[in-house]
Amino acid sequence: MGRKPLIAGNWKMNGLKADGLALAKGVAAKLKGEPGLACELLVCPPFTLIAAVADAVAGSGVAVGGQDCHAKVSGAHTGDTSPAMLVDAGCSYVILGHSERRTDHGETDALVKAKAIAAHAASLKAIVCIGETLVQRDAGQTIAVNQTQLRGSWPEGGAAENTVIAYEPVWAIGTGRVATPEQAQEVHAAIRAELGQIIGAAEAAKVRILYGGSMKPDNAAQLIALPDVDGGLIGGAALKVEDFWAIAKSCG
Ligand code: PGA
Repeated sequence: MGRKPLIAGNWKMNGLKADGLALAKGVAAKLKGEPGLACELLVCPPFTLIAAVADAVAGSGVAVGGQDCHAKVSGAHTGDTSPAMLVDAGCSYVILGHSERRTDHGETDALVKAKAIAAHAASLKAIVCIGETLVQRDAGQTIAVNQTQLRGSWPEGGAAENTVIAYEPVWAIGTGRVATPEQAQEVHAAIRAELGQIIGAAEAAKVRILYGGSMKPDNAAQLIALPDVDGGLIGGAALKVEDFWAIAKSCG
């Protein structure tokens, strides 16, 4: 299908300047030693570190992303960051609608969609996160929940070149409880099929769908090898160079 895997590190609210720079430089150095790596590498530091990290990895091939952005271009939005500000700081990607933002900040599908449209307008690639809770999974609602979130969050104008989906079962995030390959493939295939209804099967076949939720060096290879899994959105294991690199290497 020609989908180059994306291995994205979501650092969340972790790291001061020294740690973040060491981590970013460590990842960049690994990539320098292996220019033919089979996947694309992305690090998403907290806002405070984006500019310094972008400087540190400039020219290395490691991309930098934000963890959120506002849907508006500018204005009276204290504490928020616009898509253009992320680009100005060195970002080419932004994570949107992570379950922690949906929970902590009440983000809805409609808001995530608006943010993705704003991100595209600023030339950022959007990583749109969706995923079911354990209660929803136990109630047999997994596929329906992901289809609904996808339909509500997918931006008009979204295509393979500007939008990535991250399937992150909420029960697997930060819990050490990873989806089985069967669980992951089932949902990824359902997401791609639903996406085909929105943008057409040919374009949906080109869109990268990442798995996220307790992806580690010891489980990454079997997940990434699945037909509809095109990389990972990695939290905890992205905070250690060796773990992040081991996951990247498991792309083949
Ligand atoms: P985790 O986080 O790898 O620590 O489970 C993934 C994420 O929330 O993006």
